[in-house]
Amino acid sequence: MRLHYCSLAALLLPLVVASATDFDYFYHVQQWPGSYCDTKFGCCYPGGGKPPADFTLHGLWPNYAACRTTYGDVQLVDDGGVAGELEKKKKKCWPEFCGKDDPLSPVQISDLIGDMQQSWATLSCKNNENFAFWTHEWDKHGSCSNFDQHTYFQLALQYQARFNLTAILADAGIVPSNETTYYLSSIRDAIAEATGSAPNLECNRDASGETQLYQVYQCVDLTGTVPVNCTLPKTGCTDKVKFPAV
Ligand SMILES: *[C@@H]1O[C@H](CO)[C@@H](O)[C@H](O)[C@H]1NC(C)=O
Ligand SMILES: *[C@@H]1O[C@H](CO)[C@@H](O)[C@H](O)[C@H]1NC(C)=O
Ligand SMILES: *[C@@H]1O[C@H](CO)[C@@H](O)[C@H](O)[C@H]1NC(C)=O
Repeated sequence: MRLHYCSLAALLLPLVVASATDFDYFYHVQQWPGSYCDTKFGCCYPGGGKPPADFTLHGLWPNYAACRTTYGDVQLVDDGGVAGELEKKKKKCWPEFCGKDDPLSPVQISDLIGDMQQSWATLSCKNNENFAFWTHEWDKHGSCSNFDQHTYFQLALQYQARFNLTAILADAGIVPSNETTYYLSSIRDAIAEATGSAPNLECNRDASGETQLYQVYQCVDLTGTVPVNCTLPKTGCTDKVKFPAV
C-alpha cells in the first residue's frame, strides 16, 4: 500500500511543478484617470459620468527580471548558429496567455465585482465593457500568475487598497491640479517611502503635449503581497510632470 502511494506521488509531483509558470515578480499597475482622459483620445467610463479621482487598476502582470530569448519553448543560445533559426528568435519580457481552457467566469469573482467596478474600471472608448477588460487581463496576464481567478483579482485589489497611491501622494502634498507641475523624483520618493520599494513611473502627454503621470508600476513578490525592488525601464517621463485633475 505504501509503495502504491509513493509511486502515485512521484507520478503527480512533476506534473504540478511543470504547470507552474516561471517568472520573477509581478508588476502591479495602476493608472491615473485624469491622464487617461485628457489625451486627444479621451476616455469613456462605463455607465457614464467621470471616473473617480483615484488611481484605478490596470492589472497584475507576471514579469521577468531580464528579457528572455526563446524559440518556442526552447531557450535559444545565441551562438551564431543557423541564420534561419536566429531570425525566428523571439524576445520575451514576460509570460502571457498561459491558460487554454480557463476563461474568466463571473461566478468565480462574483463577490469582487462591486469593488472591481469601482477600482478596476476600463476607461477605453474602443472597448468600454468592464468584463471584457477583466477577461483580457486574466487571459493575457492572470492565466500566468499561478493563482486561480478569485485569488488573482482579490490580491490585486488588496494591494491597491493597502498602498493607496492617491492618499500616499496627497500626504506628500502631491494633489491633482491642472496648473501645478511636480518633480518626478518627489512622486517616486513619496511612493518608495510609503511602500518600501521604488515604483516605475510611466508618463503620457495631454492634448496640448504636456508630460503627465499616467501609470505607476509597483513590483510585488510571487505571493502578490510583498513589495520588492526590481529593474526600472524608461517610460517617457521628464523631470517635472503634470498630475492633472480628473
Ligand atoms: C484611496 O484614498 C482616497 C483618498 O483618501 C479615497 O477616496 C479612495 O477611495 C481610496 N482608494 C482605494 C482604492 O481604497
Ligand atoms: C529597496 O531598496 C532600497 C534602497 O536600496 C532599500 O532601502 C529597501 O529596503 C529595498 N526594499 C525592499 C523591499 O527590498
Ligand atoms: C482639468 O482638466 C480636465 C481636462 O481638460 C477637465 O476635464 C477638468 O474639469 C479640469 N479640472 C479643473 C479642476 O479645472
